[in-house]
Amino acid sequence: MYISRLAGLVSQWASSMLLAAGFLILFACQSGDAEDVLDTRYRFEKPANFPEPTYTFENNPVTPQGFQLGRRLFFDPILSRDGSVACSNCHQQGLAFADGPQHPFSVGVDNRFGIRNAPPLANLAFKQEFFWDGGVTHLDFVPTNAIENELEMDESLANVVDKLNQHVEYPTLFKQAFGVDTITSPYLLHAFSQFMVMMVSANSRYDKYVRNEGETLTEGELKGMQLFEAKCGACHSGELFSDFSFRNNGISTTFSDEGRARVTEHPLDVGKFRVPSLRNVARTAPYMHNARFKTLEKVLEHYASGVQESPTLDPLLKDETQLGIPMTDEEQTLIITFLETLTDYEFVADERFRNTSQ
Ligand code: HEC
Ligand code: HEC
Repeated sequence: MYISRLAGLVSQWASSMLLAAGFLILFACQSGDAEDVLDTRYRFEKPANFPEPTYTFENNPVTPQGFQLGRRLFFDPILSRDGSVACSNCHQQGLAFADGPQHPFSVGVDNRFGIRNAPPLANLAFKQEFFWDGGVTHLDFVPTNAIENELEMDESLANVVDKLNQHVEYPTLFKQAFGVDTITSPYLLHAFSQFMVMMVSANSRYDKYVRNEGETLTEGELKGMQLFEAKCGACHSGELFSDFSFRNNGISTTFSDEGRARVTEHPLDVGKFRVPSLRNVARTAPYMHNARFKTLEKVLEHYASGVQESPTLDPLLKDETQLGIPMTDEEQTLIITFLETLTDYEFVADERFRNTSQ
């Protein structure tokens, strides 16, 4: 399956991946450093209430050295054309790796504005499609998009690889992580993924409640949870709070950003965007792909009374008589109370994800 996903990529990439896979098998047999084995901080663990991860760990097992290298790269502006923008500029840990309210659209090199709100990053090992339109279908390919996007880092992958090979420290760090003497792009992308797959957010009060870890929710939070399941759960379903489908939730009548149709070129996909996970949602304002709403109150008001008709509006958001999801003001407040239990304070302060290179 993994190999078929690679079809369509340049052959140089494909052959380097095969080399990398072969090498990793060798590496896996040789490694066994007692310290690494004991260091469970860098071991990927599936939370008990989560589905199985979809990331291809067999091609890229997480090691402490690979994870730490990925972390260093994530915070390093060397990836951008003029050395001004790091991944962490737009993905900040305290905001569950989303961007702040001062940047409704992300800001790249030369202060160029992007076209979409930077989404939070968490539980990426469980996703199969990335970006608001699902335009990237493997986590390993995401950094290439950020690096080469002229509104973000505006740099070529080849040039980043050159810069890293000439750097005083990176060649040693890649050697330690992957055993290679020369840095090539597959290793760069694997290091990023090792860092990103470890970003598991599963320790909110809600999680501890559903896993029976001694946490209780208040009466209001429990009522909010029931209302949420009834009114929102069809799309924001399961423990990741998304069914990962693409839908039009009625935030507009016309779409300058066509969303899913940019990928499929199908008119029936115009205005459809990926149903986002709502984990840590209290931290990730503003909301929607175009940062349309500043607060959760505005989001709830939208679903209750602001849903707009268009040819692709999701059928769940209308019936013969009305648009939207009928909810009283009190019900909206209770749902927000529940959404606040999804904040994972351990994740947003987890020292493993901090910038340690400065
Ligand atoms: C200039 C701001 C900016 C920078 C820099 C940036 N990103 Fe992003 N990131 C975004 C935006 C905006 C999106 C959504 C793109 C879209 O939907 O078209 C995104 C999407 C993502 C996603 C997909 C998340 C999901 O759930 O679909 C990942 C993963 C990600 N970025 C990782 C990175 C990494 C790694 C880097 C550094 C190599 C990086 N980003 C640099 C703004 C940025
Ligand atoms: C028909 C499916 C559907 C239903 C029902 C639905 N949503 Fe959504 N939701 C979406 C989609 C699709 C988006 C992304 C739209 C976009 O970005 O343009 C979204 C986005 C959001 C966001 C923004 C998240 C972010 O990171 O920007 C929040 C918050 C949200 N929904 C909460 C709710 C709540 C609360 C309910 C119930 C009252 C609900 N949704 C019901 C499909 C749905």
